[in-house]
Amino acid sequence: MSLTAVVGAHQVKASWTYVDGLPGLNSHLDSWLLGILDAAATPSGGRYRPAMAVNASQSANPGLTVSAQPVQAAGTVIVVREKVSGTGADGTSAASSETIYADTVSGEVHRAAELLRPEALDALPARAAGVPAGIAGPAAQQPALSDVVLTPSGELHITAHRPAGGGRSDQEKATISAGDAEAMLSDMGRKMLGQLQAAESPAPATAAASPLRHVNCDLVPCAALTYDDGPDARTTPQLLAILKEKNVHATFFMTGSNAASNPAIARQVAEAGHAIGNHTFSHPYLTKLSAAGVRSEMDRTDAAIRAAVGSAPSFMRPPYGAADAAVQRAVGKPLILWAVDSLDWQSKNPAVFVPKVLKEITPGAVVLMHDVDPTTIAGQQELITNLQTQGYTLVTVPQIFEGTPLVAGHVYRSRPERR
Ligand code: NI
Repeated sequence: MSLTAVVGAHQVKASWTYVDGLPGLNSHLDSWLLGILDAAATPSGGRYRPAMAVNASQSANPGLTVSAQPVQAAGTVIVVREKVSGTGADGTSAASSETIYADTVSGEVHRAAELLRPEALDALPARAAGVPAGIAGPAAQQPALSDVVLTPSGELHITAHRPAGGGRSDQEKATISAGDAEAMLSDMGRKMLGQLQAAESPAPATAAASPLRHVNCDLVPCAALTYDDGPDARTTPQLLAILKEKNVHATFFMTGSNAASNPAIARQVAEAGHAIGNHTFSHPYLTKLSAAGVRSEMDRTDAAIRAAVGSAPSFMRPPYGAADAAVQRAVGKPLILWAVDSLDWQSKNPAVFVPKVLKEITPGAVVLMHDVDPTTIAGQQELITNLQTQGYTLVTVPQIFEGTPLVAGHVYRSRPERR
């Protein structure tokens, strides 16, 4: 993933890599990045918001560069280095780095410091060639050993940063031999060394559970494109081809009658990783039906979609957005409405609805469109290209609401802001 954002006075450029099947590592990376972005926003009196990353690439302000990338994968352990470097408004620069250890068996994440005995600095052998001055110096000036790569052979590779003159920051590296390193390792360090030497490198257990990559919509600007009233035998496959080409996952609110008529297309939607919502069986105004009538519309649609794709939707959208308290009680699922209405069915013209969506969209928005009209399909290339250029990651409804519980009978239109 990558992100460019204007946060306070700074342009922040971040790049990082999630590891599929390691949610502990991925959420650690999210918290770390949000912490840095919030800190950058604090002097100007705010918190980081994904809106700061929309159309942020053009800024030429002094910047902060942030990265988190795997530097070693051995045995059952992945080592990730987190780096921050920046130039202040006064031209001074600073850098820091830390390594973290993701245990692919337990899913836990450990900091490099946990691998070393607290008194490891004292144990640092004077004879270790090239020990960075910043580390080997007087105790008062000793920085934490934060960037340490323990190799499968038991060596410690240490990186230290110290400010240098002229707006630079020097990086020093040292290697501690396996023999000398042994005395420095904590119990955790010895355990980690054993795992680094493990012969098998098992695939993370949950890697195959979902075709969707991890995304955090508090961090990157997200939008959820939703398509109602299908599946349609002609237009829905065309849309699926565009979404695949653009690497976008979206949400399809299907009517039960169309899912029953086109089960193979419903299945293609699900197999491509898109989300499916219940849009009633016959597309009535639910506000004009009895509670039993609403239940019947919902149940028949659940049955038709379950027959086609193997499971029933966990959320719904009332036709026309028409819902009152009685409908909210009767549907038995969260109601997903929208923050941006393309009115694609009204204009039937991409030159009208594409600019409308681009003008109204904000991070976290659910966008309403319809995949049953050829003119809607005709505008998707342009719409998606523009949104991606602006910095949006396009996600499904469950992804955009991740972390916010969706409650049956409640209405949702966009992701709530992080508090
Ligand atoms: Ni509809």
